[in-house]
Amino acid sequence: MDATILNYNVSDGVSNFLSKNKQLYIDGKWVDSKSGKTFEVEDPATGKQIATCAAGDSNDIDLAVKAARKAFDSGKWTSIPTNERGKIIWKIGDLIDKHAEELAQLESLDNGKPVTIAGAADVPLSSDIMRYMAGWATKIEGETIPISVPYTPGAQYHSYTLREPVGVVGQIIPWNFPLLMMAWKLAPALAAGCTIVLKPAEQTPLSALRLTEIINDSGLLPEGVLNVVTGLGEAAGAPLAAHPEVDKVAFTGSTEVGKLITQASAGNLKKVSLELGGKSPTIIFPDADVDAAIAGAASAIFFNHGQCCCAGSRLFAHEKIFEKVTEGISKIAEGIKVGPGMDTSTEMGPLVSDEQFQKVSGYIESGKQEGGEIVAGGKYDNASGGHFVHPTVFSKTNADMTLVKEEIFGPVVCAQPFSDENLEKIASEANNTNFGLAASIWTKNISVAHKLAAKIRSGTVWINCHNIFDASLPFGGYKESGWGREMGHEVLKNYTELKAITVNL
Ligand code: NAI
Ligand code: MG
Repeated sequence: MDATILNYNVSDGVSNFLSKNKQLYIDGKWVDSKSGKTFEVEDPATGKQIATCAAGDSNDIDLAVKAARKAFDSGKWTSIPTNERGKIIWKIGDLIDKHAEELAQLESLDNGKPVTIAGAADVPLSSDIMRYMAGWATKIEGETIPISVPYTPGAQYHSYTLREPVGVVGQIIPWNFPLLMMAWKLAPALAAGCTIVLKPAEQTPLSALRLTEIINDSGLLPEGVLNVVTGLGEAAGAPLAAHPEVDKVAFTGSTEVGKLITQASAGNLKKVSLELGGKSPTIIFPDADVDAAIAGAASAIFFNHGQCCCAGSRLFAHEKIFEKVTEGISKIAEGIKVGPGMDTSTEMGPLVSDEQFQKVSGYIESGKQEGGEIVAGGKYDNASGGHFVHPTVFSKTNADMTLVKEEIFGPVVCAQPFSDENLEKIASEANNTNFGLAASIWTKNISVAHKLAAKIRSGTVWINCHNIFDASLPFGGYKESGWGREMGHEVLKNYTELKAITVNL
């Protein structure tokens, strides 16, 4: 890749990778799309093209599904002893660490996030979930169940359950954490013994392709176990969700597309898990460690430029501390250095695409029109070709405003004070959303914290922290934030079927 296009120093691994043709990975081979069509990938800090990828469609999806089907049905993956399967998954984790620098650089170039953050969070979290799930490969167990069948008196039975891989899984992932979303999906599917067709987001396919190349070069996985088809959502994602030979689809992305996935899955009633949008509340009580709460609430919304499904986008602070909190967050917002992610001094990069830039800047304008008061930021700038939106704090917002109701998916927080410390009232405000992904509560009062945590209708509640993730903690949503959980041993339920076997003794 021409260094003047990139403008940055990148590792040899990255420049070699970028200079290569980007193909589909089907049945252990790199191939062009059947149609020969391609799509362009840009650097969101400049808007310049950095790669061209094969644009898969239903024909390529069909080939990939057939390869995954063959690999599953032949037993070449499920018959590998589980301790060996575990070692393979562990080694994929090691390979991610070995290539940490180039994967972090690719992630930054492709998504726009600071390379320092990609190196400190995205890459190590990706290898960590590989190792966590490697351990589960040997621990996916059934149970023995005593039964007493009323209509066969005197008979004796031995009943037990087997937890078996669900089969061929289609995995459709988004652009906000491209490598990590691949790892969250791949690790449990492999541990359970499934075979995979992965469809990366069209905005950010590069780290998935590079990790696939690394895995392919290692020879760790039998052919057909992992297939990767890049392409656009409707052209490649939709046929994967609808494919009759896919047993399960796992999706992370917008609630809108999540609903389409459930419709597409109806043809063969494939299993579906969905990790969708959010509008997560951050609730700060007057007795909280206010400085810690300010830092936490700022990071809750500004981390990853607000492009997090669990971003703390609705801020509720008690009226006694409301001004101090909004001033504190505003000060942090104004101090955040916005720039290209590949610049190591950058704290917030560009948004991922022009589409996101238009969407987020549109919400800033609608917030102004609806009477919201901007106390920090509010600026957005794409004059350089990059999609930069500055961290923004809106005060005087209320539940009826569009920017409070809808997922913005940008660095924009809507602050509103509360006066009554009645927990029912606070919970009902916090729950006044179609989403239910996450929440954080900031208080020193443990009774208040636990009582309120129980009342909040969301899959995750953080107390005196936000955005704390671990491979062992289940993550997912209530209401329109999704179905099922990612991570922890809970996710293995998504990738397994339960069989009950009874022997007449
Ligand atoms: P999206 O939901 O359209 O894209 C996510 C993935 O789904 C991509 O791989 C895309 O190619 C695929 N896809 C798109 N249409 C599809 C279809 N009809 N059938 C199957 N797959 C399809 O999200 P998009 O358009 O990139 O972002 C729009 C909004 O979605 C964001 O502004 C944000 O609010 C939300 N979002 C939420 C995410 C989360 O982590 N929960 C991640 C990304 C976006
Ligand atoms: Mg979309």
